[in-house]
Amino acid sequence: MTLLNVSDLTVTLATSTGDADAVRNLSFSLDGGEILGIAGESGSGKTMTALSIMGLLPYKGKASGSINFDGKEVLGSSKKKYQHMRGKEISMIFQDPMTSLHPMLTVQTQLTEHMRYHDKMSKSAARESALKLLDTVKIPDPASALRAHPSQFSGGMRQRIAIAMALACEPKLLIADEPTTALDVTVQAGILRLLHQIRDERNLSIMIITHDLGVLSSLTDKILIMYAGSEVESGPARELLSNPRHPYSQGLIAALPGASREGKFLTSIDGMPPELGNFPSGCAFHPRCGFAEDRCSVPPIDATVVSKGHRIYCPVNPFAHDRVEQS
Ligand SMILES: Nc1ncnc2c1ncn2[C@@H]1O[C@H](COP(=O)(O)OP(=O)(O)O)[C@@H](O)[C@H]1O
Ligand code: SF4
Ligand SMILES: [Mg+2]
Repeated sequence: MTLLNVSDLTVTLATSTGDADAVRNLSFSLDGGEILGIAGESGSGKTMTALSIMGLLPYKGKASGSINFDGKEVLGSSKKKYQHMRGKEISMIFQDPMTSLHPMLTVQTQLTEHMRYHDKMSKSAARESALKLLDTVKIPDPASALRAHPSQFSGGMRQRIAIAMALACEPKLLIADEPTTALDVTVQAGILRLLHQIRDERNLSIMIITHDLGVLSSLTDKILIMYAGSEVESGPARELLSNPRHPYSQGLIAALPGASREGKFLTSIDGMPPELGNFPSGCAFHPRCGFAEDRCSVPPIDATVVSKGHRIYCPVNPFAHDRVEQS
C-alpha cells in the first residue's frame, strides 16, 4: 500500500538574486516497508525534497504540489500538525548525528523525552523501551550507554543512537539524509545493514538520500536520480543500477568504484552541476551531455517509460546505454 505519494512537488527558495526553484515538479511514491534511494550530485535538491516532507523548509522556502502521507495531504499543514507528525509518524536522521543529539544531555534523557512527550509513557516504561531500542541498534551495554553523553561515542555509534531516537515513537517513515557520508567505509556498511534489518523487522518505509550511488546498491528497492531539482530517471534499484538509461545516471554509475572496473581509471562526468537560479532550459544536463542535440534545450522534456516502473527524462537517447556498450 502506498504510504507516501509526492506529486508535482516544487520547492522555491529565496536566493540573493531572487526566488528560484530548487525542486521542480518532482513526483514519486513509497509503499509501506519499501526503501527508496534518492541520489544525485550535491545541490540537486535532495535535502529540500526531504525537508518539504518534514515541513522544515528554510526561512522563506515554499513548497507547492502535493505530499500525501498515509492517506492525508500534509503540504500546507499547520505548525502544530507538523510537530505532531515529526517523530511520531515521520522521523529524520542527518549526515551529522549531532544535528539530532544534544551534547549536554544523557542518552537516556534524549531517548525517553520523545516517548514521554508523544506516547505519554511513564519514566520507567520509557527507560525499558530505550534499553530495547539501544539493543535494536546494536549499542553494546545499553544500560551504561543510557547514562553516557553522545560525545562519549564514536561517529558510527552516535549515528546508531540517532537512529534509535528516530525510531523511539515507531514512525512509519524514516528519512535518512546522507546518514553514512561522514563515516568510514566499514562503519558505513554496518549502518546500512542496520537500516535494512530495521526495515525487515518493523516494516518501516525508508527514504535514503545520498550523493553516492554506491551506498544504495545493496539497500534499496527503488531509486530516483535527481539533477538540478528534477527527476532524470527512476526505477527498480537492481534494474536501474545494472541498466541505467539516462546519460546522467550512466555517468554516475560509470564513476562508481566497482569490482568489474578494478584496475581501470574511474570515469567522471565532465563539468559542474548548475547553480540554483541558473538551471539550463529544457534538459538541464544538456551542457554536460555527450548525446545532446539542439532540441535538448527546448522544454518540455517529457518522461519516456523504459519498462514497468522505470522511466527516464531523455527523449533523445533513451537507449544510449546499448549504444555505449556496442561502441
Ligand atoms: N537556505 C537556503 N536558501 C537558499 N538556497 C538554499 C538554501 N539551502 C540550500 N539551498 C540551495 O538549494 C539547492 C538544493 O539544495 P539541497 O536540497 O540541499 O541539495 P542536495 O541535498 O541535493 O545537495 C542548492 O543549490 C542549495 O545551494
Ligand atoms: S535530453 Fe539530451 S541533453 Fe538531456 S540527457 Fe538526453 S540526450 Fe542528453
Ligand atoms: Mg543534501
